[in-house]
Order: sequence, then C-alpha cells, then structure tokens
Amino acid sequence: MNILILGSGGREHALAWKIAQSKKLSELYIAPGNAGTASIGTNLDLSPVDFTAVKNAVLENNIHMVLVGPEAPLVAGIHDFFLDDEQLRSIPVIGPAKAGAELEGSKDFAKMFMHKYHIPTAKFRTFYSDSLEQGKQYLSDIDPPYVLKADGLAAGKGVLIIDELETARNELENMIRGKFGEASKKVIIEAFLSGVELSVFVLTDGDGYVLLPEAKDYKRIGEGDTGLNTGGMGAVSPVPFAGVDFMDKVENKIIRPTIHGMKKEGIPYTGFIFFGLINVKGEPFVIEYNVRMGDPEAEVVLPRIKTDLVELLQATAEKKLSKVSLETDNRVVSTVMLVSGGYPGSYEKGKVISGLDQVDTSIPFHAGTKLSEDQVVTNGGRVIAVSSFGKDMESALRLSYANAEKISFDKKTYRKDIGFDL
Ligand code: AMP
Ligand code: GLY
Repeated sequence: MNILILGSGGREHALAWKIAQSKKLSELYIAPGNAGTASIGTNLDLSPVDFTAVKNAVLENNIHMVLVGPEAPLVAGIHDFFLDDEQLRSIPVIGPAKAGAELEGSKDFAKMFMHKYHIPTAKFRTFYSDSLEQGKQYLSDIDPPYVLKADGLAAGKGVLIIDELETARNELENMIRGKFGEASKKVIIEAFLSGVELSVFVLTDGDGYVLLPEAKDYKRIGEGDTGLNTGGMGAVSPVPFAGVDFMDKVENKIIRPTIHGMKKEGIPYTGFIFFGLINVKGEPFVIEYNVRMGDPEAEVVLPRIKTDLVELLQATAEKKLSKVSLETDNRVVSTVMLVSGGYPGSYEKGKVISGLDQVDTSIPFHAGTKLSEDQVVTNGGRVIAVSSFGKDMESALRLSYANAEKISFDKKTYRKDIGFDL
C-alpha cells in the first residue's frame, strides 16, 4: 500500500520511521517532509492546506491512504474534501473531519462538549465583544491566576496565564479586539488548575480505540520549566505517576465519554485524539484536546509501539479497532529537542548540521531541517529530536544527551533537565 503523510516536523519523521518498518508498505510519500523523511520516503513539495495540490499528488502517486500529521489541514476540512470528491472518496484519511477537528479548532466547542458529557475539566465562561464588560467583571469576581484562552487556533500562543487582575482585564480586551486575529474573538476564561501535566493518546475509529503509551512533554524553553512556551523541548514515556489506578480513571472518566460523546453528537471520528491532561491530587482533568499526535510526544510514543502501525491505521479506516490489541515496548524512551538559538523568538535558518552520522545509540528525528545541495541544514526553531531507549529514564536520557552532544550547528541549544521532575 502507498501512504502519504502530511506535515514536516519531528512527529511526521517519527510516523514515517514507524510506517517504513511495515511489511504492508509499498511506497511512502511525505508532503512537504524534511531532510529526515527524505531518507526513508519521497518528499513532495506541497503545502498540506493546499487541498488541490494534495489531490493531484494522491492521484499521481496512486496513494491508498493519507495520514494527516498536524491539525491545520484537519481543522480546514481536508477529510471532508476527500469525502466530497468522487475520485478521492474511497481513499481513507486518518484524521477527523471538520466537525470532529473542532475538539481542537474551537476551545469553546471542546468546553461545551466536556460540560455536556460530564468530562472533568476546569470551570469556564466564554466571552465575546458583546460581553466584554461582563468578562472583566467575571475576572474581578474570581481568584488569580487568570487563565485566558483564545477560542481558535493561535499557533500554540493562544493561552495566557496572568497573575495581575488589571493585566488580565486588559489582555481580555486585547484578545477580544483581535490580538490573535479571528481566533481570539471569543475568549474562554478558565479556573486555574494546579498539578502535573501529561499527554495521553488514543487512535480511534469513532467506536473502538487503542490506548497508546502516555508521555510527558516539557513545554517551556528554560530549565526548571521557566520562560516562554515552545512547541515542546523534550519528552519521556512512560510517565511514572500514570499508574493503573490513574489510567483507569483517565479511560473511564475521559476517554470513553469523549468517544461516546462524539458518537452521540453524530460526529464520525477516525484518527488520533490527544488528551492534554493535568493530574490534580490524583484526579485527571482535561486541559485541552488535540486531534493529532503530539510533537515531541510522537518521538517517544511511536518507538514504544511494537504493533505494525500500518495495520493499526488500516483497522482504523475499516472500523475494526475494537478487535485490535496493542503491543508495547516496556522500555523507557526519552527525547531531547535541539533548537535554534533565539527560539521560540526569532532565529536564523540555513545553518549546516554536522555529526548526524556519529549518532549510533539514539534515533535523530528531524523536525526543522531540509536538504540544501546535499547538506542537511536547519529550517525551523525545533531542529532535531534525539530519541533513545533505556531500561529506565536515566539511561534513556544519558543516551539522548550523549548523542545530542555529537550533533552540531551554529547556536544549537537544548534543555539539559528533561525528566528532572519525575
Ligand atoms: P493549552 O494550549 O490549552 O494546552 O494551554 C497551554 C498550557 O497552559 C497548558 O499546557 C498548561 O500548562 C497551561 N494551562 C492551560 N489551561 C490551564 C488551566 N486551566 N490551569 C492551569 N494551567 C493551564
Ligand atoms: N507537544 C504539545 C503538542 O504537540 O501540542
């Protein structure tokens, strides 16, 4: 079977790496991909949100399945585009249609959905330009810190956590007046939850699901979880505090009600659901839903899956997931993200990356890289995720850090404390 993966990050390299191990695979294409995916498949130079270009690529290359990496094409309706097109209808898309992608595309939708199906999440109210004054009053009535969330997609920047009442009231106004464009015309004010976060993933066909290994992601740029938010600076799987009791609660109070709720709403769903959770004194709460795998979580979760991923994706497309059981690797996997100096602010691209051929005891998953005249150069803020197996977290991290040292590029930086809190 010929498979097309849409996207260009470390997540997509990890998906490509795992899919390339399947006996069921004939040809693998990645659009647009990066220098890492180019070494295991064929990169196609097109944007995943240019649906006509995707269609042409699918027909030209006789693609049998499309796996969507990032959320943007899903929220923009790529799955619906396939269903509405006579030539594409029979080609399965892994990733939900637009209605299901609203779980990530609209925080207001997600919160209303959780409220309706009694899924534990922080208390919230939603405000618009018409209700700005009520919003400001609401902030005065609740305790800090204040959590303000843009309703729509804001490139991971749409959540503000603010200690000062006056700042929160001003930011609410800025957001509603368009700080994040259309995405923040509606703002959700949420109660602050205190606890440790983790990421839980399922692959679902809308009925059955398989629970994938959980992971913990390190989002802040600075050591000790300080400084600006990033896409993710490292990750580990498994997460020590996610024991059987806790994960039972996650399945019973969150995962099953979510899948059941979507079905009840008449929203078909085929693809990954990423539950961004927080453990508040042993009780799981949903911070956010994403309709895709996490990045860098994919770089630690996928290596721990022993089952053939193509078989899992086929079972998803054929709605047979309830008959599938997942085999996982008991070892720990860690990843350390090498980033461009300046990230998550401005940074330079095009720096030559050397030493990749020296990496022998880790898997270097490429994120922002590309080939330039046979050299691998940096092409983004997050550059390489160095993933390693270990019998425990310490030994996995030791390898990730040893190999992180071997890879060089100008202004390379990384966090030295991944896993510090576990
Ligand atoms: P989100 O984009 O919804 O994942 O939010 C980004 C980050 O903000 C999360 O990973 C949390 O660290 C933090 N956050 C979001 N909502 C809350 C909340 N209600 N209480 C505490 N922290 C939160
Ligand atoms: N690492 C968090 C995310 O993928 O959204």
